[in-house]
Amino acid sequence: RTKRVTAPEITSRKGATPIVALTAYTAPMAAMVDAHADLILVGDSLGMVVHGLPSTVGVTVEMMILHGQAVVRGSQRAMAVVDMPFGSYEESPQQAFRNAARIMGETGCGAVKLEGGSRMAPTIRFLTERGIPVMGHVGLLPQATHTLGGFKTQGRDADSWARHIQDAADVAEAGAFAIVVEGVVEPLAVRMTESVAVPTIGIGASARCDGQILVLDDMLGLSARVPRFVRRFADLGAQADRAIADYAAAVRARSFPAEDNVYR
Ligand code: KIV
Ligand code: NA
Repeated sequence: RTKRVTAPEITSRKGATPIVALTAYTAPMAAMVDAHADLILVGDSLGMVVHGLPSTVGVTVEMMILHGQAVVRGSQRAMAVVDMPFGSYEESPQQAFRNAARIMGETGCGAVKLEGGSRMAPTIRFLTERGIPVMGHVGLLPQATHTLGGFKTQGRDADSWARHIQDAADVAEAGAFAIVVEGVVEPLAVRMTESVAVPTIGIGASARCDGQILVLDDMLGLSARVPRFVRRFADLGAQADRAIADYAAAVRARSFPAEDNVYR
């Protein structure tokens, strides 16, 4: 069994070859991603993508642990990072440590990710100083959808740039080994990337981030609607629809199972 990619290895990739990251929620998908990616994120996007929730706000620690266990079992080489869900870390550094330690202990993941800029810096420091690698997440924060009134690209107004750059700087300074930069205008993503010493992993950001991440289901074409920043590298949704329609027709015509599908 080969050794997994570590947090310091990811950090050392700043300014070097781009870090390849994708989400995965299940063991078989994790195995496919593991063959090509440096980092697999068990994103709380699983609430919407696999559980049909309206947002990530209803995702629980138990859900993250179950999917985290599946992804760690399915992968060998890539670093596995598990999202801390809404409500599991915001109250205090102590609450965050308790839940992060449980997530790491029960899944065997290599790090956790939590959303928030400067206000989360004390929590990130508390965790990293106690042995829990933390990936930051700044810019557009999906868990804050209720206070923000939806998903809006950040940094369209120049006045907000200083705050976003400060968020990234404080998260890096607090000890995050890498930072997801989500949904910010391209030149701001470049400025954020230039102003921190740890890698930025962009999503809806810039090709000049130190790495990229996408939701696997979105880039495979399995999601009904995707935002502009997603490229569909495959169209598996349409292929699956055709396959299921063909199966239904074959069952109704009694042409399935055929000779080679039955035991004589
Ligand atoms: O939950 C998620 O999938 C994420 C990534 C898109 C960064 O946080
Ligand atoms: Na997330």
